Amino acid sequence: MDRIYLDHAATTPIDPEVVDIMAETMRTYPGNPSSIHREGRTARARIEEARKEIAELLNASIGEIFFTSCGTESNNMALKCAVRDLGVKRIISARTEHHAVLHTVQRLEGEGVEVAFVKQDSRGQIDLNHLSGLLDNPGSPKTLVSLMHANNEIGTMLPLAGVAQLCAEKGALFHTDTVQTMGYFPIDVDKTPISFLTGSAHKFYGPKGVGFVYINGDNLIKPFIDGGAQERNMRGGTENLYGIVGMATALKKKMEEREKQEKYIRTLRDQLLRGLQERIPGIAFNGDAFGESHYKILSVSFPASAKSDMLLLNFDIQGISVSGGSACSSGADAGSHVLDALKPGDPATTIRFSFSHHNTAQEIERVLEVTEKLLVG
Ligand SMILES: Cc1ncc(COP(=O)(O)O)c(C=O)c1O
Repeated sequence: MDRIYLDHAATTPIDPEVVDIMAETMRTYPGNPSSIHREGRTARARIEEARKEIAELLNASIGEIFFTSCGTESNNMALKCAVRDLGVKRIISARTEHHAVLHTVQRLEGEGVEVAFVKQDSRGQIDLNHLSGLLDNPGSPKTLVSLMHANNEIGTMLPLAGVAQLCAEKGALFHTDTVQTMGYFPIDVDKTPISFLTGSAHKFYGPKGVGFVYINGDNLIKPFIDGGAQERNMRGGTENLYGIVGMATALKKKMEEREKQEKYIRTLRDQLLRGLQERIPGIAFNGDAFGESHYKILSVSFPASAKSDMLLLNFDIQGISVSGGSACSSGADAGSHVLDALKPGDPATTIRFSFSHHNTAQEIERVLEVTEKLLVG
């Protein structure tokens, strides 16, 4: 039987059309985009075409999109440049951010930046009054708020427009990690006052190892990687031409198919949610599962037991790929800083299911049967 992949928040399989366009780009664009001869100029033009495509999808200017190697680099660039170049001396963030943000914020704190964490409820929703109060603090230094659009482990979504507006009204810069939502929700930076946002191609059926950061044109930063004059002098290094073209192709396609896919994925998520409620006693859903949640993520807590302890491994043996508390970069399940922050001491076993338009109702039915067999017997 074919394996069932339900780990699309970790990464998505590359779209075959994207593979074809990347392969064609490899064959047709041999030049270095910085060279002034024809091969160089055509490669440069192809990169600028990709930049224009991405800028249009976000309603940004082309000069506001910078290509990077991944979402992690994009988040590092936004936060570190805001501190180094824009006079930010205080960051307000949340304990449930991805490590790409959290560890960067902690490093900046070690270097003297003041850090405050906004209060959250047990679903991971931030306390807007608390955020507003933190921003009102008289005499506080220049502040940047960094809050992710959707949490990658539990799916909880930020009221993006409201938070962006609040930050703008209070004179704070606003960075949002949109790695999980890029291509899944419409984002319009012309209507929403966002200073920085980030994307990573492998989360929307593009290639791994390429991402981008949007930097609002009002924020003039200095180079993040010193070297050549690539990316308008902000990030030295010969561009990942094939990756960039693949990323723009993937994002365009994802946005075109977004609404249709969303409807379909919601039916799969609902099927799993209801099925688990009916068949598995004592389960709970993490995050804001019945409210403002990313439709591609369902995080489930199974009551602690010898059987649930082995669930992740047994799913894999049964041909089902899902994530545990969190997939750390060493490959081990290192527990979850997100769940520790929201439900400290909870002994339950957490499994994150994350869906795509490639999954089917039959696959979900099989997951339900396997879960019941593994837990209930
Ligand atoms: C919310 C979020 N931010 C950042 C990242 C890091 O992205 P990348 O793998 O491209 O470095 C991820 C990937 O898991 C993520 O889910």
